[in-house]
Amino acid sequence: MKVSVIGTGYVGLVTGATLADLDNQVVCLDILEEKINMLNSGNSPIYEPGLEELLRKGLKNKNLVGSTEIEQNIRNSDITFICVGTPSDNNGNIDLSYIKSASSSIGRALRDKNGKHTVIVKSTVVPLTTEDVVLPNILKKSGWKRENLGIGMNPEFLREGSAIHDAQNPDRIVIGFADDVARKALKELYNPYKCKKLECSPRTAELIKYASNSFLATKISFVNEMANMSNVWGIDFQEVAEGMGLDSRISAEFLRAGAGFGGSCFPKDVKALAAAAKNSEVESLMLKATLEVNDIQPKIIVKMAEERLGVIKGKKIAILGLAFKPDTDDVRESRSEIVVRELMEKGASVVAHDPEGMANFKKIIDVKMAPTPELATEKADCAIIMTEWGLYKNLDLESLLERMNGNVLIDGRRALNAKKADEVGFDYKTIGLG
Ligand code: UGA
Repeated sequence: MKVSVIGTGYVGLVTGATLADLDNQVVCLDILEEKINMLNSGNSPIYEPGLEELLRKGLKNKNLVGSTEIEQNIRNSDITFICVGTPSDNNGNIDLSYIKSASSSIGRALRDKNGKHTVIVKSTVVPLTTEDVVLPNILKKSGWKRENLGIGMNPEFLREGSAIHDAQNPDRIVIGFADDVARKALKELYNPYKCKKLECSPRTAELIKYASNSFLATKISFVNEMANMSNVWGIDFQEVAEGMGLDSRISAEFLRAGAGFGGSCFPKDVKALAAAAKNSEVESLMLKATLEVNDIQPKIIVKMAEERLGVIKGKKIAILGLAFKPDTDDVRESRSEIVVRELMEKGASVVAHDPEGMANFKKIIDVKMAPTPELATEKADCAIIMTEWGLYKNLDLESLLERMNGNVLIDGRRALNAKKADEVGFDYKTIGLG
């Protein structure tokens, strides 16, 4: 099939590269020339394991190309995926401006096209967006008759760091369609994948995406709340999680307690769904609680340090981990941001380290960085682990203690062996271990 993909961010590039790998003719579109130039020279504009190889493969066998000629390439394709960003505004509401401009481009492109065309929203959008915003806008701008246009919504369930693997080995594919043109196109495109394909309306597909992310975020906040209770009741929450996870209805996944969830999806999506519910006058108490617990967790980390150090002012504190999770340079909504800010406000001298995220973090907070965890912790009164990188899990605890000025070690991700840390002589504290 001839596929055009609008937006060469994370979702668009992975979608383009994996569809090209299934032998479709894919053109990735973006208004930013530098991104398209990078793509066409075989360099991925974002860091994602395996993506660059797949892009190069597509370019080499001519199944993939990047272009800034948006309307012409939409016209020349059979199906267009909208993969643009959907950020939150200051009130948590979804900002649909990129979605609106992408659908306007599609409408203008279709003015000079005959036959049929399918448009699929892949960006995460609140329920009714595909039917009430994208569809009318395309019809208005194109002057097309409804029956020639296919409209669908096909959400993305990729995790950063394993996006290619997730895209090529999906648990399920959600095929949201408003008409038979879109249904047929999506079924044909995804025919090579043998997983369960759920057919539904676009609004159902939209809510499946939000409900999935919000449920996972709620699961994390729930275990964090239980872990906070474990802190004061002398309970090891890891054992509680193991006991809970043995129930197949609960599952052992996403039961890791700690400093809370971050990233470009969970915080934004929970806020957007809560705001959409509010706009429709529906109470969303669970979502509100999920966000509130997530705001509390980094504060608990700071409190743990404060209780042990007595006073934060003037203390040297090493922050190990700035990325929102390991194996990424993404620092968006990272819990480290809250911890670093609060420690600096309280007068600590903060030195941070992260294997990949330092450059991005520096754009948010001008904090002192050290090139290695060893240098970050040199003469520190306290070290705080905020991201469970393998590098930190394998830290030599004896030499860490020798290097430090004090012995306070706060583990925001339960990355270390608590017993070992105690034996070495650390005043070790983690979330969920009373
Ligand atoms: C998440 C979802 O997992 C994907 O299914 C979804 O497609 C994606 O958002 C999206 O909407 O695009 P991602 O943001 O890459 O993927 O990150 P996750 O691996 O899910 O982790 C999110 C956050 O939760 C991280 O900060 C992580 O540290 C935290 N987390 C995760 C916990 O605190 N505890 C856990 O048990 C699991």
